[in-house]
Amino acid sequence: MSIRRLPPELINRIAAGEVVERPASALKELVENALDASASQISVRLYAGGLELIEVVDDGSGMTPDEMRLALERHATSKLPDDAIEQVTSFGFRGEALPSIASVARLSLESRPRGGDGWRIEIDHGEMVGEGPAAFPPGTRIKVEGLFDKVPARRKFLRSPRAEYAACLDAVKRLAMARSDVGFTLDHDGRRILTLLAAGAPARVAELLSHELDRHGIGIECVRNGMRLTGVISLPTFNRGVADQQYLFVNSRPVKDRLLTGALRAAYRDLIARDRHPIAALFLEVPLEEVDVNAHPAKTEVRFRDAAAVRGLIVGGLRHALDEESGRSAAREQAAAPVMWTNSESYARNFDHERPPVAAVREEQHSFVVDDVAPQGRAEPATEPVPNFPLGVARGQVAATYIVAEAEDGLVIVDQHAAHERLVLERMRAAREGGAIARQALLIPEVVDLDEPGCDRLEGASADLAEMGLDLERFGPSTILVRSVPAALGKTDVAGLLSDLAAEIAELGGPMSLRDKLDHVAATIACHGSVRAGRVLSVAEMNALLREMEVTPRSGQCNHGRPTWVKLGHGEIEKLFGRR
Ligand SMILES: Nc1ncnc2c1ncn2[C@@H]1O[C@H](COP(=O)(O)OP(=O)(O)OP(=O)(O)O)[C@@H](O)[C@H]1O
Ligand SMILES: [Mg+2]
Repeated sequence: MSIRRLPPELINRIAAGEVVERPASALKELVENALDASASQISVRLYAGGLELIEVVDDGSGMTPDEMRLALERHATSKLPDDAIEQVTSFGFRGEALPSIASVARLSLESRPRGGDGWRIEIDHGEMVGEGPAAFPPGTRIKVEGLFDKVPARRKFLRSPRAEYAACLDAVKRLAMARSDVGFTLDHDGRRILTLLAAGAPARVAELLSHELDRHGIGIECVRNGMRLTGVISLPTFNRGVADQQYLFVNSRPVKDRLLTGALRAAYRDLIARDRHPIAALFLEVPLEEVDVNAHPAKTEVRFRDAAAVRGLIVGGLRHALDEESGRSAAREQAAAPVMWTNSESYARNFDHERPPVAAVREEQHSFVVDDVAPQGRAEPATEPVPNFPLGVARGQVAATYIVAEAEDGLVIVDQHAAHERLVLERMRAAREGGAIARQALLIPEVVDLDEPGCDRLEGASADLAEMGLDLERFGPSTILVRSVPAALGKTDVAGLLSDLAAEIAELGGPMSLRDKLDHVAATIACHGSVRAGRVLSVAEMNALLREMEVTPRSGQCNHGRPTWVKLGHGEIEKLFGRR
């Protein structure tokens, strides 16, 4: 592959801007170059978070001495042989990275093409200071030292070695996930941090995110409109306090895209508390013409021709997978217990989700009231055989909080409050989806001032919003008139809601916030409307609760993402007593 200087018209079409702003961005460029050179093994060494040293060694194609010199020139690349940026599948295409790094550090480039000899070039802040033969196996080694030492303006913005190291690690992880077929090692301050053997994507993702995903992950595979989405997401109950483990790859390119954050939020809406975040690694393959990779100087963002379709694929695909798995829960707390408490997946699959609960909103206060509510059921005799209900038959209640049930294959324990809360929320949602959403007309329409693009967005989404109970009208270039709000929102800060909505529509391309808000309210109401912990239930009430759980979607988690039930299998009970 020969390197050429790009013609000026092409240079001008390339997204301009800062290529390297911190060690992690330099490292990312170097690893991408190694991948573009078809390396099968890449070794990264860092000192002080890359501030002192970044070294990347690959066993890829290597370069001849002439190519090395050209590689260090601006706008020289081997990756755009025919000016077609739209068709590029390599990571690089600008011919910017090496010269940019070389201009702000001391750089040593050693390379040897297959069948050729090794050569070394030393650059000090853009000036060549030496070159000569080098003994080196085929491939390339690049060392970057003292990054930004002589660039105080940049130096100022660098963070501690620890923080820079964290960013470097993230960059390596992203690329290693994108290309699981390549082996990687990473050393920091002389310590081996990662050893990754070439593997398939699922194994690589599990290695880098969490092995727990084997048990608590849901595999994704869906195809729509010529696009394909694969990967893994975590069960709602297996979540994190920060959104730091969400990865999106578009045609094998790691991208940071708000689209993913928004789509994840939408897919897990009401399955997970607002301050908790799922884990996700999603691989999207789209036809080259659907995506513009030349959208950002650091190549970390892409632009989709049809962002709404991509979002639809992600939200739809994930939601479908989540609903399919809805009876399953991660039972996180139990994972560390001496015996394994698990929700049986196979049972979850047997749940009949074809019959959604269809109670009216007004009924949500009703709980499992049956005629005989006298406390009982401390120890139901288990004379008759256990019918084959996935969650079993209630045998009693413990601490007035947990229902103990006997299933065919083990003992089921249900958190009555968590479970009922979920059921109430699902009933309310079903009513809403059935079109029974109540609106509250405002006696005096509320006038809200917003910026013009915000008004445009709200106006554009007004039909959707009206469906959810929010009727609005454009009243002037930067004014919106609100005639009604969803009744469930009660007294609400209409101006705040509208400005949040406008921002969210911009970000997500769909009015999510209102649904979110409604769900939030619905969840709060559900919580108040549900059977409290500490309430004594009759056996009939307990059984009614179990049966409804079996037919209610997403009943494996409460509205806060905690499990609602766990099962101790017969095998595990036997182990407890040393019978196995
Ligand atoms: N590790 C490597 N092995 C083989 N060739 C390399 C390596 N690194 C760089 N090159 C060559 O040097 C050229 C310039 O690299 P550079 O990273 O500056 O630009 P690029 O990868 O073409 O585009 P971009 O600026 O978008 O990364 C590449 O096109 C490639 O031919
Ligand atoms: Mg490059």
